[in-house]
Amino acid sequence: MPLKVSPSAHLYITLAVPAAGLNEPGTAVKGANVAIQLLRELFDASDAHRRAHGEGCTVFPSPQAPLWGIIAAALPAARVLEVGCGIGYQAACIATTAPSCRVETIEGDPMHADLAEQEFVRRGLEARVTVLRGDAETLLPKLDGPYDLVVEDAGIDYARWLRVLTRLVRPDGVLITRNLSKEGASVTLDLPTNATTIIRARPAS
Ligand SMILES: C[S@@+](CC[C@H](N)C(=O)[O-])C[C@H]1O[C@@H](n2cnc3c(N)ncnc32)[C@H](O)[C@@H]1O
Repeated sequence: MPLKVSPSAHLYITLAVPAAGLNEPGTAVKGANVAIQLLRELFDASDAHRRAHGEGCTVFPSPQAPLWGIIAAALPAARVLEVGCGIGYQAACIATTAPSCRVETIEGDPMHADLAEQEFVRRGLEARVTVLRGDAETLLPKLDGPYDLVVEDAGIDYARWLRVLTRLVRPDGVLITRNLSKEGASVTLDLPTNATTIIRARPAS
């Protein structure tokens, strides 16, 4: 079933990451707040890394990542694929919010992959989050789907890769794209009968 996905057919949702100070003693959610604080630190560390790494570094942690975690939990997702790991903020959000899922995350910069793996160990997520090292365009054709949720966050060329990403998502799964077309062009997809839901995330600023 062909579906025209227009650049205006997107969902702009920005979730603020809760600031420090939620961790009130005696509350039932204390453990959750500790996890939130660790994620908040990773969001800030990702921004700090980009500034320190210098020009060309594209680690822009997505403010919507907690929402993708909620979607993963709601599906519920067993397998999640992220394209563009950075130093791990989004993958950590998803794995923390959806504790029964496994996340595979592609990263082409070895420094980012090293830092992300350290962050996953620090959060006890290393058994459920695997960094696939290498270029997405080399790795994507080799992956076996289906994934329940695919989140594209590397900025790859959608005209070439959207069909591949769509094939990797199971019917009724969710594909989250960072930006369908930087130039504002529409993209036409052939979707399975049970259409995959496509959410277009707010572009990184
Ligand atoms: C916007 S950042 C990802 C942010 C990350 N998801 C987070 O939560 O912070 C883009 C990342 O994709 C990686 N990347 C860009 N193009 C890539 C490609 N073709 N293959 C693999 N990784 C790529 C960059 O090295 C960078 O770490």
